[in-house]
Amino acid sequence: QINRDEAGRGVTLNRVLQIGPLPPSLERDMREHYDVVQLNDVPDGHLDEHGAGFTAAVANSRIGVDRALMERLPSLRVIVNFGVGYDAIDVEAAKERGIAVANTPDVLNDCVADTAVGGLIDVMRRLSAADRFVRRGDWARGPFPLATKVSGKKIGILGLGRIGRAVARRLEGFGVEIAYHSRSRVDGVPYERMDSPEKLAAWCDALIVATSGGAGTRGLVSAAVLEALGPDGYLVNISRGSVVDEPALVAALTGGRIAGAALDVFAHEPDVPAELLTLDSVVLLPHIGSATHETRRAMSDLAFRNLRTFLEQGTLITPVPE
Ligand code: DGY
Repeated sequence: QINRDEAGRGVTLNRVLQIGPLPPSLERDMREHYDVVQLNDVPDGHLDEHGAGFTAAVANSRIGVDRALMERLPSLRVIVNFGVGYDAIDVEAAKERGIAVANTPDVLNDCVADTAVGGLIDVMRRLSAADRFVRRGDWARGPFPLATKVSGKKIGILGLGRIGRAVARRLEGFGVEIAYHSRSRVDGVPYERMDSPEKLAAWCDALIVATSGGAGTRGLVSAAVLEALGPDGYLVNISRGSVVDEPALVAALTGGRIAGAALDVFAHEPDVPAELLTLDSVVLLPHIGSATHETRRAMSDLAFRNLRTFLEQGTLITPVPE
């Protein structure tokens, strides 16, 4: 595609591959400045023919970019991940090929932390279950069963990064005790660090998973951690489904070996284990941690600024950590 610049000279636009759905405002910005092609619109096999044309890819964070796709895009210089979690991007393969990778951190901390706290209150006070009770017309037959108080409880946070700390700051207002586990000690926080997920789970009344996803955290919330959480313990996950051993979680919930869970993420989204659909002790959310107008707009802007800064100046605003 040839466009004209202000002096009327022909300018070849960078070709950008769009991988998966993206917010309309980001798509609009991309199309205004670049020659954008949707991966889904490329007929099978044609990518190999035309892959050399793509210098950039912008990916939905659920779909990402794997090594095989990178190999079919020999001119690729940058991948922008729409989302903070970049576990669906093979960063190792990108590094080997000298491909820069950016994500959209920070702008979503508030909303994801709000979702964690909302999920915690919902599952402990049984708000969604109470809503279903009213809608079913059960109120006339008797009172709703009592729930569990949040204030005064011990809350464990697994992963005290920027989102984990935003969760902790919010919870301070609830008069709870907070402790955390993360690989290394976090300086400047008033919370105790427990040296394993099991110890944290055994100590707390509710465990909030706020760690990043990826190979390093896969299955961190194991059957043993759920066992340690115990029959009165609650789990909240706003991180990635892969961090929790999902079959072990389903077994713990259906067997009453933990009290309940609020889950915004699952191992195989959008699939949710069928056993959970009928459980009143579980709050199920469709990965909406960052899904507000304001935050998705801010994520779109940051993703686009990363793309543009890289293609014009060769640098990124928010590269993923080394
Ligand atoms: C993220 O940004 O990683 C959130 O999970 C939304 O995709």
